[in-house]
Amino acid sequence: MSYRIGVISGDGIGPEIVAEARKVLDCISKKYGHKFEYEEILMGGCSIDAVGVPLTEEAIAQAKASDAVLMGSIGGNTATSPWYKLEPNLRPEAGLLKLRKSLNLFANLRPAYLYEELKEACPLREDIIGDGFDMMIMRELTGGLYFGERKTELADGVMTATDTLTYSETEIRRIAKRGFEIAMKRRKKVTSVDKANVLDSSRLWRKIVEETAIDYPDVSYEHMLVDNCAMQLVKDPKQFDVILTENMFGDILSDEASMVTGSIGMLSSASLNDTKFGLYEPSGGSAPDIAGMGIANPIATILSAAMMLRYSFDLDKEADAVEQAVKQVLKEGYRTIDIMPREDEKKSSVTKVGTKEMGDLIVERIERI
Ligand code: IPM
Ligand code: MG
Repeated sequence: MSYRIGVISGDGIGPEIVAEARKVLDCISKKYGHKFEYEEILMGGCSIDAVGVPLTEEAIAQAKASDAVLMGSIGGNTATSPWYKLEPNLRPEAGLLKLRKSLNLFANLRPAYLYEELKEACPLREDIIGDGFDMMIMRELTGGLYFGERKTELADGVMTATDTLTYSETEIRRIAKRGFEIAMKRRKKVTSVDKANVLDSSRLWRKIVEETAIDYPDVSYEHMLVDNCAMQLVKDPKQFDVILTENMFGDILSDEASMVTGSIGMLSSASLNDTKFGLYEPSGGSAPDIAGMGIANPIATILSAAMMLRYSFDLDKEADAVEQAVKQVLKEGYRTIDIMPREDEKKSSVTKVGTKEMGDLIVERIERI
């Protein structure tokens, strides 16, 4: 089969990690006889530098014309980069938010899984880690605070900023359905996370989740307040299967969950709409402090490419091969710097590798499968 893949390399470590994911996809295409056609799409700081805006209409059209989009990361150092002197709607992140909205990518899946081999990189105590954990964060991605009306103005002579948090029952219902459907394919448990003791939007969220749950009698579900969830994620991460939550809570909790799995450099993500199209990106940022050094972990991007094979192209066997190769390389002790165990906790022999070597190793393992 032939597939058109839009590629957003972006900023910071983006181009380095995307290059490794492309190597992996090229290997898959050769081994399994598929044709992947890539088209570079400009977004983020690099787009600002080239054409003055973080995302052009042409870039949106390119993304829409693709079967799926693979993305690295966008943005720079918010304290020092000139991009952050621009109007907020002209900054790199505004490009990503606009792309998500334009493509209606309302469902963001972020799997957080502790690899057996990475237990040593997990900052939690051994008795908390136990047999490890495996959760899916289902984050609503096109509503809430990130898309509400915002303004900064003088109110009675005092500078005042306002952001609005709005959710309609339609927006809540469609993401809740996705959450329960994913749970049906997993351990059949949904933890819906909100702040219903304070926010109206959360109270509506709770009501709609309860209504949705009726259609999924095999799935057990519970509500959890977001502050408690932040605590439970480090106290007892094993309890979670699917975490279903709104945009900002999901943004924050997924970073926390990634750290619990050892490193944000391991966390892949898929942003989906009602079609087979998806935008696949690592959950981490552009890490400008290590950009160009060849040390960034490409695994989250490679696993995002595997999600693309699985969810957008229905190539399960090929996705399995990528995931198996990642596991194998970890088992053999290869680590980028972010997943190196601390000296005092080193129990097995490990080899430190850079971004390119990690990509090459994974490619070699796929070839051998
Ligand atoms: C993420 C990122 C983005 C978000 C930023 C870059 C706008 O943090 O994908 O989690 O907040 O959604
Ligand atoms: Mg984030």
